[in-house]
Amino acid sequence: SAPGVADRPLAGRHVLVTAGPTHEPIDPVRYLANRSSGRQGFAIARAAATLGARVTLVAGPVTLPTPAGVDRVDVQTAREMAAAVAGAMPADVAVMVAAVADWHVAPLDQKLKKTGSPPALTLIENPDILARLSVGADRPRLVVGFAAETERVIDHAVAKRGRKGCDWIVANDVSGDVMGGADNSVHLVTATGVESWETMTKDEVAIRLVRRIADELRERP
Ligand code: CTP
Ligand code: CA
Repeated sequence: SAPGVADRPLAGRHVLVTAGPTHEPIDPVRYLANRSSGRQGFAIARAAATLGARVTLVAGPVTLPTPAGVDRVDVQTAREMAAAVAGAMPADVAVMVAAVADWHVAPLDQKLKKTGSPPALTLIENPDILARLSVGADRPRLVVGFAAETERVIDHAVAKRGRKGCDWIVANDVSGDVMGGADNSVHLVTATGVESWETMTKDEVAIRLVRRIADELRERP
């Protein structure tokens, strides 16, 4: 039979997803980065498209193919990611999976040379894309953040949800080899409590999360 509402519960919705790391240049040949592979975010973008959403995927530097039916915007830095997110509004849902660099440096025009004493890097805080979106005039109806933590995962995630002003936080235990790996161990922190999901693949986390998002939109028209 033809696909119906039950198969494509996100039809007519615009879902924004951020994914991957950001790269913050130090000089023409060096940058600050982190271990994010982008796999979880890309899986979420793919799952949302499968459920019928129009999907904008703002991706940092990763080596992943674009999921079918997804509009991809490639960026390097956190500031570029912030601009791309603002440019993608309005959206019904935002899922901020990117491991955004917390700091950048004022980049040098020429390659740093190994002369004299080691150079000091002065770090400058990046814009908080999630926090900004959560209080903005064009706030999506459902804003979901991720929190990568190595200790006191749930405590940090509950606090982070309050600080960021988002609706949900998906708390990610990255003390093992989650970053870059295929599996993920997550807790979903909402206004009503914490759900701890069994360890599953990043694809399975994506499908479950996107189904939850579709249910939430249906319950809060
Ligand atoms: N995030 C963001 N912009 C930033 C930093 C983080 O949008 N400049 C988003 C991430 O995409 C994620 C959430 O905020 O959805 C939490 O990121 P995380 O690094 O865990 O939180 P921070 O507030 O940066 O706190 P810390 O790194 O100190 O734990
Ligand atoms: Ca951070």
